[in-house]
Amino acid sequence: MHNATNPYSPGAGRSPFELAGRTALTNDFDLLISRAAAGRTDRGIVLHGLHGVGKTVLLNDFRRRAENAGFLVVSLEGRDADGGPKAVRAKLARGLLQAGRKANSRGNTPALAGALGTIASFASGLQVSGIDVGVGERHGRGDSGAFAVDLEETVEDTAVALAERGSALIFVVDELQNLDAGLLAALLGAQHQAGQRDWPFYLVAAGLPNLPAALTASQRYAEGLFTYRSVGALDREDSASALVAPALEQGVSYDPEALDLLLNAAGGYPYFLQEYGSAAWESAPEKRITADDARIAVEIGRAQLDQGFFPLRWRRATKAEREFLRLMAIDGPGGSSTATLAARAGKKMTSMTMTRGSLIRKGIIYAPELGQVSFTVPGMADYVRRVTA
Ligand SMILES: Nc1ncnc2c1ncn2[C@@H]1O[C@H](COP(=O)(O)OP(=O)(O)O)[C@@H](O)[C@H]1O
Ligand SMILES: [Mg+2]
Repeated sequence: MHNATNPYSPGAGRSPFELAGRTALTNDFDLLISRAAAGRTDRGIVLHGLHGVGKTVLLNDFRRRAENAGFLVVSLEGRDADGGPKAVRAKLARGLLQAGRKANSRGNTPALAGALGTIASFASGLQVSGIDVGVGERHGRGDSGAFAVDLEETVEDTAVALAERGSALIFVVDELQNLDAGLLAALLGAQHQAGQRDWPFYLVAAGLPNLPAALTASQRYAEGLFTYRSVGALDREDSASALVAPALEQGVSYDPEALDLLLNAAGGYPYFLQEYGSAAWESAPEKRITADDARIAVEIGRAQLDQGFFPLRWRRATKAEREFLRLMAIDGPGGSSTATLAARAGKKMTSMTMTRGSLIRKGIIYAPELGQVSFTVPGMADYVRRVTA
């Protein structure tokens, strides 16, 4: 069928036709919104899971819900594409300025005018300018030069001003594990204070499966700050719906055998469902997707993944890192013990620490527990075996 009508959306952060199987999570977030609007504070939310399960599109959906509720939302990504910690802080300041302008256009109050001044001071301290909030810098708030203090004051003034009108301040942070330690500590500190002092401020974040453990390790009180939700593969019914619903809307149906073939290939992973659905759409000549079409689609879909989703990580690995990944792939998708890897390589464990560290920083592997490593990408073990065979 025609490319132009293809309703599937393979690609990082691309919104799917519908968020199949995520109602429980969107309900969690709607509850946070209604509690916040009613002036009751709540925990933030942390989503954790592998790459390609749909965390980013969930955060985008949360952001839209919060904006529809009239909340102020500032979005951040753990690692800025073209800069280090400074760029991420600058983005936070710009987001606050923009959000502040929006709030101002909905009507000013003395508290909001004060908050805008604090935001202006905070931004100016980070050398961010060019977005006029219509209020001058406020001396003595958000301008101490100590980042964590300034952030906390900015969050306090903004959230308290928003509370007056049943609104709230939300920071949406994707790939939270990539934030530098200073910014992370400041954000956790602000969330902690918000909970203690009833400011409507919420950190809503996503990251890799070990994010809850990493947060607790960085601040012992982090456990109580968030509702932690694991985001994983979809069950059979929701996976089927992710394939069938977008097609049905255009009068296109799947033969049962075709659906089975595609569902088996995708293993419930949203990214794979989109890739295989997209390939099925392009392979089928008629408005009925047959088993033959599906067989071709599985081939094409896998080839697409082998050209995009997997090599995106593989290409970033150095020669030594690739060897490390090859040794891991032997253990399959369940992960490896670092002791086993060292034995396999015939090396001392300490000599592999650097490679392990750089693979973690590149987001290709993570440490689910002490002495263990796993791929951050579903299906990566098989891919590594294919490319190194
Ligand atoms: N609930 C869902 N139903 C159907 N497709 C989804 C769902 N969640 C995500 N997707 C698709 O999966 C892919 C990966 O989503 P993304 O949010 O980038 O994942 P992550 O951030 O976890 O790596 C995208 O192609 C997206 O359209
Ligand atoms: Mg993502």
